[in-house]
Amino acid sequence: MTNWRIRDFHSADLDGILHLWETLKATNVEPVYALSEVLASCEKDHAVVAVLGEQVVGAAVGRAAHDQGWIVFLATLPEYRGRGIGTSLLAAVENRMAPHGLNKLSALMPESETRVEAFLGRGFALKKNLRYFERTIPVQRQELGALGQLGGRVLARDLWENVAGMRKEKELLERRLVLPLAEADLADEFGVVPPRAVVLFGPPGTGKTTFAKAIASRLEWPFVEVFPSRLAADPQGLAGALRETFLEIAELEHAVVFIDEVEEIASQRAGDPPSPLQGVTNELLKIIPAFREQPGRLLVCATNFIRALDSAFLRHGRFDYVIPIGLPDRQARHAMWERFIPAPVVDDVDVELLVEKTEGFSPADIEYAARSASQRALEKAVYDDGGLATDARSSVREAVRKGPSTDDYLAAIAETRTTVSPEVHQDFLEDIEVLGRV
Ligand SMILES: Nc1ncnc2c1ncn2[C@@H]1O[C@H](COP(=O)(O)OP(=O)(O)OP(=O)(O)O)[C@@H](O)[C@H]1O
Ligand SMILES: [Mg+2]
Repeated sequence: MTNWRIRDFHSADLDGILHLWETLKATNVEPVYALSEVLASCEKDHAVVAVLGEQVVGAAVGRAAHDQGWIVFLATLPEYRGRGIGTSLLAAVENRMAPHGLNKLSALMPESETRVEAFLGRGFALKKNLRYFERTIPVQRQELGALGQLGGRVLARDLWENVAGMRKEKELLERRLVLPLAEADLADEFGVVPPRAVVLFGPPGTGKTTFAKAIASRLEWPFVEVFPSRLAADPQGLAGALRETFLEIAELEHAVVFIDEVEEIASQRAGDPPSPLQGVTNELLKIIPAFREQPGRLLVCATNFIRALDSAFLRHGRFDYVIPIGLPDRQARHAMWERFIPAPVVDDVDVELLVEKTEGFSPADIEYAARSASQRALEKAVYDDGGLATDARSSVREAVRKGPSTDDYLAAIAETRTTVSPEVHQDFLEDIEVLGRV
């Protein structure tokens, strides 16, 4: 019985293609192209089907990309194999693509693909020593609109690695947040409920914003910052705009949502008459439970004034963790200095001494001191040490190449006013005792 025939694909064949796809999957063949891609190519590119009466028993789908064509799908129902249907389908789809003037026709098939004969029969050569790489793009195309509207973006992939030092904080965040969110299935097996919302608190410039972004980068989730000050200008008012924003966020598959200086919209509700922000605080308190019900997202709120937060805001069930981000210890300062000192001079600088002299400095202070030292050294090399005056550009470069010295760093450190006063730091240590929850 060979009365099957090949014809061009019609929309009515979609069910048949779907059935072929499912049959393939059922035989443990994991097709390379996603079903959505195959269906899109059926409609927009080149597809032929083998039919027996009304039934679709095989299909080949191709796509032309410049000079190279790709077979994105080839399948025959198992009971119709061995009759040359595959070879004929390949011939037909190649014919359909011929007007594009292709130079090469390629097919990428799973290793378990058994119908090598169909390809060889059509003159394809089996290429050896190839490797196939695949990466899922974290934000799917259909989400891009919603993400753009929210001002969200996918951050660089290396932010987590770029957080220098802060080993304790990093390890805590890695274990409590990243692990259960990135390995949701594993966490579920252990009965771990993934965190949905956390507060990072600590003095200014200690890296709260840096960590929030690093978490997003580590999870490969888009980062969406909510700016209450911008929402306040919305005609629906801050509370309404906040509600609206979180409804839009609900449309995203994944997101790390960040609210900085959250004390501005979630401060103590005490006071008579009530503060005009009370409605906003109430709105936020209502938003969080709904937010918590959606998987694949994390709310990170940051504050350097945690005492000011409404006590209802911080309670269990709303925030999973209230995590202190404090001043860097010796080891962290060492890692930061090594990060900020240019590589060619780092061996000539007494890093230990700088670590010693920057006790009580925040990462922001260290970064500032490092930058000023670099600037000071550059200016000195070019203007003061006879660099430009000698008029020999090569000698300028020679001088500049020396880079900043230990003395340049010490001078910059001496001129840097630390942001975190001993009193503020003392308050922070008390806050860890009273309000911290890790
Ligand atoms: N671990 C770190 N390694 C290197 N640089 C860091 C680190 N932490 C923070 N920085 C740098 O220090 C500066 C301040 O960090 P960040 O803005 O994250 O602090 P913050 O706690 O959010 O401050 P604020 O309370 O003022 O909002 C940034 O320029 C950041 O790049
Ligand atoms: Mg910040």
